[in-house]
Amino acid sequence: MSERTQVGIVGAGPAGLVLAHLLHLRGIESVVVELRERDYVEKRVRAGVLEQGTVDLLTEMGVGDRLAREGLVHEGLELRFGGRGHRIALSELTGGRAITIYGQQHVVRDLIEARQAIGAPLLFEVEDVRVGELDSERPSIAYRHGGERHELRCDFVAGCDGFHGVTRGAVPDGVLTQLEHEYPFAWLGILAEVPPSTDELIYCNHDRGFALHSLRSPELSRLYLQVDPDDDVERWPDERIWEELHTRFATDGGWTLNEGPIVEKAITPMRSFVVEPMQWGRLYLAGDAAHIVPPTGAKGLNLAVADVRVLADALAAWYESGDDAQLRDYSQRCLRRVWRVQHFSWWMTSMLHRVAGADSFEQRLQRAQLEYVCSSEAGARTLAENYVGIPD
Ligand code: FAD
Ligand code: DHB
Repeated sequence: MSERTQVGIVGAGPAGLVLAHLLHLRGIESVVVELRERDYVEKRVRAGVLEQGTVDLLTEMGVGDRLAREGLVHEGLELRFGGRGHRIALSELTGGRAITIYGQQHVVRDLIEARQAIGAPLLFEVEDVRVGELDSERPSIAYRHGGERHELRCDFVAGCDGFHGVTRGAVPDGVLTQLEHEYPFAWLGILAEVPPSTDELIYCNHDRGFALHSLRSPELSRLYLQVDPDDDVERWPDERIWEELHTRFATDGGWTLNEGPIVEKAITPMRSFVVEPMQWGRLYLAGDAAHIVPPTGAKGLNLAVADVRVLADALAAWYESGDDAQLRDYSQRCLRRVWRVQHFSWWMTSMLHRVAGADSFEQRLQRAQLEYVCSSEAGARTLAENYVGIPD
């Protein structure tokens, strides 16, 4: 079956769904095709920290009602090292900006509901997705859905299909440059049915490795432990996780970590990855399809949203006046933010993780950096303005 739309969007993660809704608000039609089933994408536990700019955008788009009711606004965070906590006053240091804790799967659910409410096409469980003729004026997305083959002709294709998607690979060899950095760590993340032991996030540097205390609601805690990249969740029974968390978060003054049933447990590897440029022909890559950051800066989701905001504006300008200047500028404009965020995420990661085999000199440098951030207003502000998100 042959069909036609203006913008074909591959992937219904935050990037694809935000793009689809922004285009709808500008009167531009799109079709979103997604490999997984709806239930799966709505339950996939991932990021939880929304920058001020992401919250503002979702609100302006009219999909922020539940976010406003259930999101938890945080005006500070704690850096903990050497058995002591140090507060970074995010809002005071950034003219009142803040972060909001709201699970990525809730953002995705809210956007899917909005898409369905307007009756716009969003297809789950598509198979065998292939993009083609990307260097022509009528690129295509071929896929199988409900047992039938379809071909969707578009003006543009948005590759929002994450790191393991197919769109990036459809660009001919030699066009894209891939820049990568591997980190010798991974995170073991848990979700536990227990009230958080803290009001604000705690990023903890400890001799045994990094730990992070985050949350999802007044009843649900989200915690992470630095582990080896080749570690296996099978080697982390619940008791071992709690024991390790107690050890890493311990303070000189005594601090209590609440324990509760662990309802989700997974290990995520850490890497930095960027493709340049983020566009070829009529294919525009956005979000994890174009770049991955290590999670320490809590940026992956926010960066995906920042990309598609630029893309939606550029497409709207093209449809309104035929002007392609913003489309030509898309990659360069996004990459400026990508590299700032890439640096921030690398810096947070380096400052907070234990590097196996690091010598005493390197350990002292790490401590000096942490002390500077916690004692100098300039140092703290650098962290704060990046963490809440630098406006365009
Ligand atoms: P995705 O959310 O990956 O969405 C891509 C979508 O495309 C998916 O729904 C996928 O099923 C679909 N897709 C893939 N291939 C195809 C295909 N061939 N055809 C059609 N559809 C396809 N960031 C943080 O800031 N903090 C965290 O704690 C954190 N934890 C993470 C944990 C994990 C396990 C992972 C993988 C990522 C995590 N991230 C985290 C990163 C953050 O979740 C991502 O940056 C964010 O999801 C990017 O959104 P996206 O829409 O670009 O990609
Ligand atoms: C969360 C994830 C992060 O990567 C981070 O830096 C802070 C919080 C979270 O899942 O809540």
